[in-house]
Amino acid sequence: SIIKLVGAPIEIGTSEPGAVMGPAALRTAGLVRVLQDLGHTVHDLGELSPDGTLGQRTLSAIRAWTTEISSMVETALDEGHLPVVVGGDHSLSLGSIDGALRHCARTGRPLFVLWLDAHADFNTLETSPSGNVHGMPLAALCGEPGFEALFEAGERPLLDPARVHLFGLRSIDAGERALVTQRQVNIVDMRTIDEFGVVAPLRRILDRVAAANGHLHASFDVDFLDPTIAPGVGTTVPGGATFREAHLIMEMLCDSGLVGSLDVVELNPFLDERGRSARVLVELVASLFGRRIIDRPTEVPPLE
Ligand code: ARG
Ligand code: MN
Ligand code: MN
Ligand code: MN
Repeated sequence: SIIKLVGAPIEIGTSEPGAVMGPAALRTAGLVRVLQDLGHTVHDLGELSPDGTLGQRTLSAIRAWTTEISSMVETALDEGHLPVVVGGDHSLSLGSIDGALRHCARTGRPLFVLWLDAHADFNTLETSPSGNVHGMPLAALCGEPGFEALFEAGERPLLDPARVHLFGLRSIDAGERALVTQRQVNIVDMRTIDEFGVVAPLRRILDRVAAANGHLHASFDVDFLDPTIAPGVGTTVPGGATFREAHLIMEMLCDSGLVGSLDVVELNPFLDERGRSARVLVELVASLFGRRIIDRPTEVPPLE
Protein backbone atom coordinates (compact mmCIF):
# COMPACT_ATOMS: atom_id res chain seq x y z
CA SER A 1 0.00 0.00 0.00
CA ILE A 2 0.95 3.64 -0.43
CA ILE A 3 2.24 5.56 2.57
CA LYS A 4 0.40 8.83 3.10
CA LEU A 5 2.76 10.99 5.14
CA VAL A 6 1.60 14.14 6.83
CA GLY A 7 3.28 16.46 9.30
CA ALA A 8 1.22 17.80 12.20
CA PRO A 9 3.41 20.44 13.84
CA ILE A 10 1.18 20.96 16.83
CA GLU A 11 2.64 21.88 20.21
CA ILE A 12 -0.27 23.53 21.99
CA GLY A 13 -0.94 20.28 23.83
CA THR A 14 2.28 20.70 25.81
CA SER A 15 3.91 23.38 27.92
CA GLU A 16 7.38 22.81 26.41
CA PRO A 17 7.84 24.58 23.07
CA GLY A 18 9.75 22.87 20.27
CA ALA A 19 7.58 19.98 19.05
CA VAL A 20 6.44 22.27 16.24
CA MET A 21 9.84 21.52 14.66
CA GLY A 22 9.37 17.74 14.85
CA PRO A 23 8.20 17.07 11.29
CA ALA A 24 11.01 19.21 9.85
CA ALA A 25 13.63 17.33 11.86
CA LEU A 26 12.28 13.95 10.77
CA ARG A 27 12.41 15.08 7.16
CA THR A 28 15.95 16.37 7.63
CA ALA A 29 16.91 13.00 9.11
CA GLY A 30 15.73 11.36 5.87
CA LEU A 31 12.31 9.97 6.70
CA VAL A 32 10.92 10.13 3.16
CA ARG A 33 14.07 8.90 1.45
CA VAL A 34 14.41 5.93 3.80
CA LEU A 35 10.86 4.80 3.05
CA GLN A 36 11.37 5.21 -0.67
CA ASP A 37 14.63 3.28 -0.52
CA LEU A 38 12.69 0.41 1.02
CA GLY A 39 10.55 0.37 -2.11
CA HIS A 40 7.50 2.18 -0.79
CA THR A 41 5.56 4.82 -2.63
CA VAL A 42 5.29 7.84 -0.35
CA HIS A 43 2.68 10.51 -0.94
CA ASP A 44 4.01 13.40 1.06
CA LEU A 45 1.11 15.65 1.99
CA GLY A 46 3.40 18.19 3.62
CA GLU A 47 2.57 19.95 6.86
CA LEU A 48 -0.94 20.69 8.07
CA SER A 49 -1.65 24.16 9.40
CA PRO A 50 -5.28 24.61 10.38
CA ASP A 51 -6.63 28.14 9.96
CA GLY A 52 -6.76 30.49 12.88
CA THR A 53 -4.88 28.33 15.37
CA LEU A 54 -1.65 30.28 15.40
CA GLY A 55 -0.63 31.19 18.94
CA GLN A 56 -3.82 29.87 20.48
CA ARG A 57 -3.68 27.39 23.34
CA THR A 58 -7.31 26.43 23.59
CA LEU A 59 -9.35 23.27 23.24
CA SER A 60 -10.99 24.71 20.16
CA ALA A 61 -7.60 25.31 18.53
CA ILE A 62 -6.80 21.66 19.18
CA ARG A 63 -10.16 20.76 17.66
CA ALA A 64 -9.07 22.41 14.42
CA TRP A 65 -6.08 20.04 14.31
CA THR A 66 -8.14 17.03 15.33
CA THR A 67 -10.61 17.66 12.54
CA GLU A 68 -7.99 18.03 9.80
CA ILE A 69 -5.91 15.06 10.91
CA SER A 70 -8.98 12.88 11.34
CA SER A 71 -10.29 13.48 7.86
CA MET A 72 -6.85 12.97 6.31
CA VAL A 73 -6.45 9.62 8.09
CA GLU A 74 -9.99 8.49 7.40
CA THR A 75 -9.66 9.28 3.69
CA ALA A 76 -6.26 7.62 3.41
CA LEU A 77 -7.60 4.45 5.05
CA ASP A 78 -10.77 4.45 2.96
CA GLU A 79 -8.57 4.59 -0.12
CA GLY A 80 -6.54 1.62 1.10
CA HIS A 81 -3.44 3.61 2.02
CA LEU A 82 -1.36 3.66 5.16
CA PRO A 83 -1.43 7.04 6.93
CA VAL A 84 1.62 8.14 8.91
CA VAL A 85 1.21 11.28 11.01
CA VAL A 86 4.39 12.84 12.37
CA GLY A 87 4.29 15.43 15.11
CA GLY A 88 3.97 17.42 16.89
CA ASP A 89 2.75 16.58 20.36
CA HIS A 90 0.62 13.59 21.34
CA SER A 91 -2.65 15.49 21.12
CA LEU A 92 -2.42 14.84 17.37
CA SER A 93 -3.53 11.27 18.09
CA LEU A 94 -6.96 12.67 18.87
CA GLY A 95 -7.20 13.21 15.14
CA SER A 96 -5.44 10.14 13.82
CA ILE A 97 -7.34 7.73 16.05
CA ASP A 98 -10.65 9.49 15.47
CA GLY A 99 -10.05 9.07 11.75
CA ALA A 100 -9.13 5.41 12.13
CA LEU A 101 -12.26 4.85 14.25
CA ARG A 102 -14.46 6.40 11.59
CA HIS A 103 -12.85 4.20 8.93
CA CYS A 104 -13.26 1.09 11.08
CA ALA A 105 -16.89 1.93 11.82
CA ARG A 106 -17.42 1.60 8.09
CA THR A 107 -15.44 -1.63 7.60
CA GLY A 108 -16.68 -3.30 10.77
CA ARG A 109 -13.17 -4.19 11.86
CA PRO A 110 -12.33 -3.48 15.50
CA LEU A 111 -9.69 -0.84 16.16
CA PHE A 112 -6.83 -1.70 18.50
CA VAL A 113 -4.30 0.85 19.70
CA LEU A 114 -0.70 0.11 20.62
CA TRP A 115 0.45 3.10 22.68
CA LEU A 116 4.25 3.02 22.92
CA ASP A 117 4.86 5.61 25.61
CA ALA A 118 6.33 6.24 29.05
CA HIS A 119 2.97 7.74 29.95
CA ALA A 120 -0.64 6.57 29.92
CA ASP A 121 -2.00 9.81 28.42
CA PHE A 122 -5.31 8.93 30.08
CA ASN A 123 -5.80 12.06 32.16
CA THR A 124 -9.06 13.96 32.13
CA LEU A 125 -9.38 17.70 32.60
CA GLU A 126 -10.07 16.82 36.22
CA THR A 127 -7.23 14.39 36.92
CA SER A 128 -4.51 16.18 34.94
CA PRO A 129 -1.89 17.76 37.19
CA SER A 130 -0.50 19.82 34.30
CA GLY A 131 -3.52 20.77 32.21
CA ASN A 132 -1.58 19.69 29.11
CA VAL A 133 -3.80 18.03 26.53
CA HIS A 134 -1.01 15.71 25.29
CA GLY A 135 -1.51 13.84 28.57
CA MET A 136 -5.22 13.31 27.82
CA PRO A 137 -5.87 12.01 24.28
CA LEU A 138 -6.75 8.43 25.20
CA ALA A 139 -9.25 9.50 27.85
CA ALA A 140 -10.88 11.85 25.35
CA LEU A 141 -10.99 9.21 22.60
CA CYS A 142 -12.49 6.66 25.00
CA GLY A 143 -15.35 9.02 25.76
CA GLU A 144 -14.50 10.32 29.22
CA PRO A 145 -16.68 13.38 29.88
CA GLY A 146 -15.50 16.98 29.48
CA PHE A 147 -13.83 16.74 26.08
CA GLU A 148 -16.70 17.85 23.82
CA ALA A 149 -14.75 20.94 22.71
CA LEU A 150 -12.01 18.74 21.19
CA PHE A 151 -14.27 17.21 18.55
CA GLU A 152 -16.71 18.44 15.97
CA ALA A 153 -20.31 18.38 17.14
CA GLY A 154 -22.29 15.25 16.34
CA GLU A 155 -21.91 11.52 16.66
CA ARG A 156 -18.42 10.15 16.88
CA PRO A 157 -17.22 6.57 17.27
CA LEU A 158 -15.55 5.96 20.62
CA LEU A 159 -12.41 4.02 21.28
CA ASP A 160 -12.91 0.93 23.44
CA PRO A 161 -10.48 1.22 26.38
CA ALA A 162 -10.29 -2.59 26.52
CA ARG A 163 -8.72 -2.47 23.05
CA VAL A 164 -6.03 -0.02 24.11
CA HIS A 165 -2.62 -1.49 24.88
CA LEU A 166 -0.24 0.78 26.77
CA PHE A 167 3.32 -0.43 26.25
CA GLY A 168 6.39 0.89 28.09
CA LEU A 169 4.48 2.70 30.84
CA ARG A 170 6.58 4.03 33.72
CA SER A 171 5.03 7.36 34.68
CA ILE A 172 1.40 7.69 35.66
CA ASP A 173 -0.53 10.26 37.68
CA ALA A 174 -2.71 9.18 40.61
CA GLY A 175 -6.04 10.03 39.00
CA GLU A 176 -5.27 8.44 35.66
CA ARG A 177 -3.92 5.37 37.43
CA ALA A 178 -7.31 4.81 39.01
CA LEU A 179 -9.05 5.50 35.72
CA VAL A 180 -7.05 3.09 33.53
CA THR A 181 -7.77 0.34 36.04
CA GLN A 182 -11.48 1.15 36.11
CA ARG A 183 -11.69 1.23 32.33
CA GLN A 184 -9.70 -1.99 31.94
CA VAL A 185 -7.01 -0.55 29.74
CA ASN A 186 -4.34 -3.18 28.94
CA ILE A 187 -0.93 -2.36 30.31
CA VAL A 188 2.54 -3.70 29.62
CA ASP A 189 4.58 -1.53 31.95
CA MET A 190 8.37 -1.42 32.26
CA ARG A 191 8.23 -3.90 35.11
CA THR A 192 6.64 -6.44 32.79
CA ILE A 193 9.24 -5.68 30.12
CA ASP A 194 12.04 -6.09 32.66
CA GLU A 195 10.68 -9.50 33.59
CA PHE A 196 9.59 -10.90 30.24
CA GLY A 197 11.25 -8.72 27.62
CA VAL A 198 9.26 -7.18 24.80
CA VAL A 199 8.69 -10.29 22.68
CA ALA A 200 6.22 -12.30 24.73
CA PRO A 201 3.97 -9.37 25.72
CA LEU A 202 3.94 -7.94 22.19
CA ARG A 203 3.24 -11.31 20.60
CA ARG A 204 0.23 -11.69 22.85
CA ILE A 205 -1.12 -8.34 21.70
CA LEU A 206 -0.49 -9.09 18.03
CA ASP A 207 -2.16 -12.49 18.34
CA ARG A 208 -5.19 -10.82 19.83
CA VAL A 209 -5.44 -8.26 17.02
CA ALA A 210 -4.95 -10.94 14.37
CA ALA A 211 -7.57 -13.21 15.92
CA ALA A 212 -10.10 -10.36 15.83
CA ASN A 213 -9.10 -9.36 12.28
CA GLY A 214 -8.49 -5.96 13.78
CA HIS A 215 -6.93 -2.76 12.53
CA LEU A 216 -3.89 -1.86 14.62
CA HIS A 217 -3.03 1.78 15.12
CA ALA A 218 0.48 2.25 16.52
CA SER A 219 1.24 5.48 18.34
CA PHE A 220 4.92 6.00 19.03
CA ASP A 221 5.86 8.63 21.63
CA VAL A 222 9.58 9.45 21.63
CA ASP A 223 9.64 9.19 25.43
CA PHE A 224 8.94 5.46 25.10
CA LEU A 225 12.67 5.30 24.41
CA ASP A 226 15.28 5.70 27.07
CA PRO A 227 16.45 9.34 27.26
CA THR A 228 20.05 8.23 26.73
CA ILE A 229 19.20 7.26 23.15
CA ALA A 230 16.44 9.82 22.53
CA PRO A 231 16.87 13.00 24.56
CA GLY A 232 14.81 15.10 22.15
CA VAL A 233 11.50 15.11 23.96
CA GLY A 234 9.92 17.40 26.56
CA THR A 235 8.86 14.69 28.99
CA THR A 236 11.81 12.31 29.34
CA VAL A 237 11.47 9.53 31.91
CA PRO A 238 14.49 7.40 32.83
CA GLY A 239 14.39 3.65 32.32
CA GLY A 240 12.85 3.49 28.87
CA ALA A 241 13.16 1.05 26.00
CA THR A 242 16.61 0.38 24.62
CA PHE A 243 17.63 0.73 21.00
CA ARG A 244 17.52 -3.05 20.56
CA GLU A 245 14.12 -3.46 22.24
CA ALA A 246 12.61 -0.69 20.15
CA HIS A 247 13.98 -2.14 16.92
CA LEU A 248 12.71 -5.58 17.75
CA ILE A 249 9.25 -4.17 18.39
CA MET A 250 9.28 -2.44 15.02
CA GLU A 251 10.45 -5.60 13.28
CA MET A 252 7.74 -7.67 14.95
CA LEU A 253 5.13 -5.09 13.97
CA CYS A 254 6.40 -5.24 10.41
CA ASP A 255 6.32 -9.04 10.31
CA SER A 256 2.78 -9.06 11.70
CA GLY A 257 1.46 -6.98 8.81
CA LEU A 258 -1.18 -5.65 11.18
CA VAL A 259 -0.26 -1.98 11.50
CA GLY A 260 -2.75 0.04 9.49
CA SER A 261 -1.86 3.52 10.69
CA LEU A 262 0.98 5.15 12.61
CA ASP A 263 1.81 8.25 14.65
CA VAL A 264 5.31 9.39 15.52
CA VAL A 265 4.97 12.05 18.19
CA GLU A 266 6.63 14.32 20.72
CA LEU A 267 9.96 14.78 18.96
CA ASN A 268 11.31 18.10 20.22
CA PRO A 269 14.34 19.05 18.10
CA PHE A 270 15.02 22.07 20.30
CA LEU A 271 15.89 19.68 23.13
CA ASP A 272 17.69 17.16 20.95
CA GLU A 273 21.44 16.64 20.67
CA ARG A 274 22.63 17.14 17.12
CA GLY A 275 19.67 15.32 15.58
CA ARG A 276 20.22 12.08 17.47
CA SER A 277 16.62 11.43 18.38
CA ALA A 278 15.34 12.28 14.92
CA ARG A 279 17.85 9.86 13.43
CA VAL A 280 16.89 7.07 15.82
CA LEU A 281 13.24 7.59 14.98
CA VAL A 282 13.89 7.35 11.26
CA GLU A 283 15.79 4.10 11.82
CA LEU A 284 12.89 2.72 13.82
CA VAL A 285 10.34 3.72 11.21
CA ALA A 286 12.54 2.01 8.62
CA SER A 287 12.40 -1.23 10.63
CA LEU A 288 8.63 -0.94 10.88
CA PHE A 289 8.43 -0.56 7.12
CA GLY A 290 10.55 -3.52 6.21
CA ARG A 291 14.22 -2.86 6.71
CA ARG A 292 15.95 -5.97 7.96
CA ILE A 293 19.54 -6.93 8.50
CA ILE A 294 19.22 -10.12 6.53
CA ASP A 295 16.25 -12.14 5.31
CA ARG A 296 15.84 -15.04 7.64
CA PRO A 297 13.27 -17.10 9.45
CA THR A 298 12.67 -15.99 13.03
CA GLU A 299 14.31 -19.05 14.53
CA VAL A 300 17.71 -19.61 15.98
CA PRO A 301 19.91 -20.35 12.94
CA PRO A 302 21.00 -24.01 12.82
CA LEU A 303 24.72 -24.82 12.99
CA GLU A 304 26.36 -26.00 9.77
N1 ARG B 1 1.01 12.64 32.77
C1 ARG B 1 1.62 13.92 32.51
C2 ARG B 1 0.56 14.97 32.25
O1 ARG B 1 -0.61 14.67 32.15
C3 ARG B 1 2.59 13.84 31.35
C4 ARG B 1 1.97 13.51 30.04
C5 ARG B 1 3.00 13.38 28.98
N2 ARG B 1 2.39 13.07 27.73
C6 ARG B 1 3.04 12.97 26.59
N3 ARG B 1 2.35 12.74 25.51
N4 ARG B 1 4.35 13.14 26.53
O2 ARG B 1 0.86 16.12 32.14
MN1 MN C 1 -8.84 -0.77 6.56
MN1 MN D 1 4.94 10.25 26.85
MN1 MN E 1 2.42 10.44 24.96
